[in-house]
Amino acid sequence: MEYTFEVPTRITVGEGCSGHLGSSVASAGAKRVMCIFDRGVEAAGIIDPIISGLEASSIEVIRYNGVLPDPPMEVIDECSSLALDVNPDAFVAVGGGSSIDTAKAVNANVSNPGTLKDHAINLNGLKVLPFENPLKPMFMLPTTAGTGSEISPSAIVTDKEMKLKVSVMSPDLVPTMAFIDPALTTGLPPHITASTGLDAFSHAVEGLMGGLAIFTPSPMRDSFALTAIELVLRSLIPAMNDGKNMKARTDMSYAAFMSILGAHGGLSMGHTIGHAIGEVCGIHNHGFLCASILPFNVEYMAEFIPVQLSKLASLLKIDTAGKSVAETGTAAKQAIKDFYRECGVPSLREMGMSLSDTKEIIRHTTSGTWYLLAPKKPSEDEITGWLEEAYAG
Ligand SMILES: [Fe+2]
Repeated sequence: MEYTFEVPTRITVGEGCSGHLGSSVASAGAKRVMCIFDRGVEAAGIIDPIISGLEASSIEVIRYNGVLPDPPMEVIDECSSLALDVNPDAFVAVGGGSSIDTAKAVNANVSNPGTLKDHAINLNGLKVLPFENPLKPMFMLPTTAGTGSEISPSAIVTDKEMKLKVSVMSPDLVPTMAFIDPALTTGLPPHITASTGLDAFSHAVEGLMGGLAIFTPSPMRDSFALTAIELVLRSLIPAMNDGKNMKARTDMSYAAFMSILGAHGGLSMGHTIGHAIGEVCGIHNHGFLCASILPFNVEYMAEFIPVQLSKLASLLKIDTAGKSVAETGTAAKQAIKDFYRECGVPSLREMGMSLSDTKEIIRHTTSGTWYLLAPKKPSEDEITGWLEEAYAG
């Protein structure tokens, strides 16, 4: 079985590296950029120094501060109209996954004919679409450590009308450069640190058992995933307890993008069911939602990943002596739930899910890409059981 690995994004990691943005954008030949962010990041005082750095390199900056969580199509349309008016040479995104995904979607939208909806897919099918025209350079500065969108080939946006999260996927959406500066994450409160960090944890663990990963096993992909898991287990709680702990913040910044490299073979039920709950119940808490389902996902898939499971068990400090693969899967499920307790993960009930939405959540789940590609698909009864247990907390 062939395995191809490509990371076209130039990745720079380190405290203060965002200070090099201006010179890099200038080197790319851009004279006017659109800088995309949300009002929270702006209020935190993160934006002004970054824009000053760009202007010091003689780059004109057009600001867009209207990003919303799980960016709705209306935001993409509004930002696209501004981009069409000002015609930037490049895009800069400063923020979490929503700002980064907005920049990708807007770039695709304004560089190509048709609307974004022509390129968007709901999660009913995996299509990797090349765009007709090349996109403009994109420079990403994550202010959270979790989504890994700064190096990924997809943008997730919300179609509110259809109550669907849609994914635009294309190799063209891979950012040009990512400045992963852990200093930009030090102001995150503990619960956002936890939810974004557990998004990375879910990418990495699901990456070990993703739809395509099972059929194209790769020790290289697993090594990224396992290192990301190790970093989260070691540094998430220290980063929550002391936001200015730069060592912990740096570990988490690495974990975020390494988790995406570990998920090159796709994701599993954590993200599939997590997305479905978010869509149906209107809950904007991607990290905690996906994480909530992950322990059940691991136990369920144990038999498909005996080697990876034993490494995961070792990271979770599980004594596997005398345990069968299935028993190790059950122990891993419990160990992950114990870790969540320390991280303060709320139950699905506390997040606002209603059990009366179970049927609709299952309907969304069973049409999801990673459900359709999964080598073993949980039944309606099994998904219901997982939801009930995660609901109770
Ligand atoms: Fe995610």
